[in-house]
Amino acid sequence: MNRIVQLKNGGQALVRPVVTGDAEGLLEVERAIVRDGRGVVQDLEDLASSVEEMAGGLQEWVSGKHSGWQGMLLVALISDRVVGSGLIHRFRPGRLRHVAQVEVGIHPDSQALGLGRALMDALLGWPETDNGSGVLRIELSVRADNDRAIRLYESLGFHTEGTRRRLVRNPDGSFADDHIMALALPPPPEPLQLVRDQR
Ligand SMILES: CC(C)(COP(=O)(O)OP(=O)(O)OC[C@H]1O[C@@H](n2cnc3c(N)ncnc32)[C@H](O)[C@@H]1OP(=O)(O)O)[C@@H](O)C(=O)NCCC(=O)NCCS
Repeated sequence: MNRIVQLKNGGQALVRPVVTGDAEGLLEVERAIVRDGRGVVQDLEDLASSVEEMAGGLQEWVSGKHSGWQGMLLVALISDRVVGSGLIHRFRPGRLRHVAQVEVGIHPDSQALGLGRALMDALLGWPETDNGSGVLRIELSVRADNDRAIRLYESLGFHTEGTRRRLVRNPDGSFADDHIMALALPPPPEPLQLVRDQR
């Protein structure tokens, strides 16, 4: 699952499953993205309030612990520093288990280097693993003013299925729309039926 990524600036990054020790770095990335404000729907108070709380929340996703079939949380590192993360998780209700949701976020100082695409590529490979098997639809929501992210998702085959008007209320009181985007995966081939000759 570990991948070395060649960055657009000539450097390298590592993409790998999260470990509990990533909590501090991940929290710093989330805080930096929220402070930057582009593409976000959270406020700082919505994030974990401490590294310990963040680490507790990561337990569910730590590779090999449990719940692997429900999803995968990846981190991207440059020189051992966490600079981004990506999550894919399957919906729990029985009739929705073929649907998964993705999220991705890169620290503002490491954006536009190819990490968002690298994380998305890795996440979209999850349905091909044993844990992710059966996922036929991957969806996400994205602010309609988030051109960078929308361009990335469209290049990966996602289509906008609908727009939630004025879903996001910004701190200055203005509103933003939000798109639901989805990618349909081909269903697995039907098992071959042996038809007995009735003649
Ligand atoms: C949106 C985001 C995930 C993209 O990741 P990234 O590492 O910055 O982008 P990448 O370098 O991987 O570029 C991927 C694509 O995004 C688009 N893109 C990236 N930077 C862009 C820019 N400044 N302007 C326009 N498009 C841009 C391009 O289509 C690019 O395609 P390319 O690989 O052919 O160049 C990242 O910028 C981010 O985390 N932003 C803040 C949080 C956020 O918006 N998360 C998504 C919420 S739905």
